[in-house]
Amino acid sequence: MTGVNIIGAGKYVPDLVLTNEMLSQIVDTNDEWITTRTGIKSRHITNGEPTFHLGVMSAKEAIKDAGIDPKDIGLIIVTTITNDFSTPSVACLIQREIGAIGSMAIDINCACAGFVYAFDMAKRYLETDKNLKYVLVVSAEELSKITDYTDRSTCVLFGDGAAAVVLERDENKIFSSYLGADGTGAEYLLARSYNSETPFTTNFNRFDDKMPDGNSHYLFQNGKEVYKFATKTLPVAVKESCKKIGLAPDELDVIIPHQANVRIIETAAKNLGISMDKFYINLQNHGNTSSASIPLALYDAIKDGSLKRGDKACIVGFGAGLTYGGIVFEF
Ligand code: ACO
Repeated sequence: MTGVNIIGAGKYVPDLVLTNEMLSQIVDTNDEWITTRTGIKSRHITNGEPTFHLGVMSAKEAIKDAGIDPKDIGLIIVTTITNDFSTPSVACLIQREIGAIGSMAIDINCACAGFVYAFDMAKRYLETDKNLKYVLVVSAEELSKITDYTDRSTCVLFGDGAAAVVLERDENKIFSSYLGADGTGAEYLLARSYNSETPFTTNFNRFDDKMPDGNSHYLFQNGKEVYKFATKTLPVAVKESCKKIGLAPDELDVIIPHQANVRIIETAAKNLGISMDKFYINLQNHGNTSSASIPLALYDAIKDGSLKRGDKACIVGFGAGLTYGGIVFEF
């Protein structure tokens, strides 16, 4: 079976740590509410560093960790919902900074399931193109750019950060994926892009795009609908990705879920009948960093020894779109 080998990992978070206490100074909230409803205690926030810079810093560490020449990277996949420019892509900017000139470079937007999608894409490229040596996957997010810090229902949830992995083909590692999306839930979680008027604009009545929150460019979510979707989808994605390779979920050594809310993870663990001990959680220090959440947790799990060589792991994500996905792989 063709799988992937993670040969290097990197992480970068901005210096500023925004605690629940600090948030309670600017909106009507408190540490007790945030902790009991979400599990989050603090998150990192940028002070002007662009998204691509966070990505570059994490990529440099991953490349160093892998001990490879960046010129041998054939494909860079970046996952983000907070790109600095409509064009060029964050992937091209990261490529410029790390010196992997000539590689393919693409951004994908699958919200919080982004890393799972990118990991799957990387595996498929490596499997079908034998000339491809290494794939660099970078997840970089600055949710602070699209967060309304006057809205207590969302601003307590999100943070900034980036994490990266270098992958190579491995013919002897297990791998299975289960990915999907449900666009009928698009209205539950969104952030509008900025659209300028042109000299030809005569219709100032907005097209009915069937999405709420007409003029705001901040993150909007229907927390209850997202919660329902997440608690239903997370166990399904774990079960289905395991089923594809004949594995029972309780045979997994580690599950690294999207770090949105500890209550979502607890409910999913209960539904799966799996002990919380198998779920890796670092959301208390990072909040929800969308697609960067899973690789940030993956990095921490590797570094603190929670994920060991030979372990069977599952990464599982869900997010705006609505998108979802699970991957079982051997570390
Ligand atoms: N501090 C204090 N009180 C608050 C806060 C806050 N930060 N936010 C909301 N409240 C209040 C509300 O106003 C409400 O008060 P009321 O009863 O007087 O009206 C009360 O707390 C309950 O609010 P709910 O929204 O019902 O709270 P709930 O228990 O549903 O928790 C939460 C909200 C945490 C957002 C939950 O719905 C959730 O986790 N949803 C999923 C979120 C998620 O995972 N999103 C990310 C998806 S990933 C991605 O793609 C970005």
